[in-house]
Amino acid sequence: RPRIFSGIQPSGGLTLGNYLGALKRFVEKQDEGIETIYCLVDMHAITVWQDPDKLRQQTREGAAAFIAAGIDPARSILFNQSQVTAHAELGWIFNCVARMGWMSRMTQFKDKAGKNSENVSLGLFAYPALMAADILAYHATMVPVGEDQKQHLELTRDIAIKFNNDFGVDFFPVVKPIIEGAATRVMSLRDGTKKMSKSDPSDQSRINLTDDADTISKKIRKAKTDPEPLPDTLEGLKDRPEARNLVNIYAALAGHSAEQVIADFAGAQFGTFKPALADLAVAKLEPITTEMNRLMKDPAEIDRILGEGADRAEAIARPIVDQVYDIVGMIRSR
Ligand code: TYM
Repeated sequence: RPRIFSGIQPSGGLTLGNYLGALKRFVEKQDEGIETIYCLVDMHAITVWQDPDKLRQQTREGAAAFIAAGIDPARSILFNQSQVTAHAELGWIFNCVARMGWMSRMTQFKDKAGKNSENVSLGLFAYPALMAADILAYHATMVPVGEDQKQHLELTRDIAIKFNNDFGVDFFPVVKPIIEGAATRVMSLRDGTKKMSKSDPSDQSRINLTDDADTISKKIRKAKTDPEPLPDTLEGLKDRPEARNLVNIYAALAGHSAEQVIADFAGAQFGTFKPALADLAVAKLEPITTEMNRLMKDPAEIDRILGEGADRAEAIARPIVDQVYDIVGMIRSR
């Protein structure tokens, strides 16, 4: 039976990119009846310094976003990573399987470390090995993510293969990224060549799941565009990254294809398209924000849900990681 695992870092508020590229699709997978395990990866978040109170707050807010978006903690397992120690344990073993060369080729590390890689945490470098552990501790085979995680999932596959070869076992499965839909890479509203990101210094560059209706509308109306009207074919969006991005966002929010959106808005000026997009975004996001705010009034209940999810996650991961210890040759005599 296929099992899905995916995670989101509670390292800031969630954006429209996280919602369309990940969260919305997590809900679709759950509703297809697949076994789904979703994780707020707090141990990944601390690869760059996090204020402890904010980390707690953002983890709860992330959990509230999952539930508000449609994750049902009875049907999916929803928990925060640090409550299940199997992740850290398998992460260490994978640190010993992964090669320095593989890790140094990770583009996300290179982007995050910048020129001064002497000064970033060792955890940031090892990050993708922990990510492989997140997935493989459950023998999950399907991982819904945005485009930016593709390279990390290729590394997950390499780690699984090398582990199996090194120990002569057929233990870890091959992991398949699920990168699908109209918005696998939502771009910044200020620069169509940059990813929309919670870490962008400009708040105008992104829509946050905590933004109110007015803020969402304003950000979309002010989004960078070119002066041309929308074309009548997708081809016509080539070399128009900002226009392409807004069309993709519309498509993903509406649950249509980009082709469909272009067919509906062929020849429209942004003066027409942007208000339509703003209305759609508000209609889809406002109920989520409202529900998030309601859930956040009862942090103890969120913590209870995360704890219960962690118990269920642990029940799956513990025996798998115990087997890994046996395979590797660790004595376990108690
Ligand atoms: P993170 O926290 O950066 O992002 C969470 C998810 O949101 C997707 N995403 C986007 N999708 C489309 N457009 C965007 N602009 C955009 N920004 C973010 C990401 O692709 C991701 O799916 N390393 C992961 C977290 C992680 C994980 C895992 C994921 C840790 N362990 C195991 C899957 C399986 C990350 O930093 O995601």
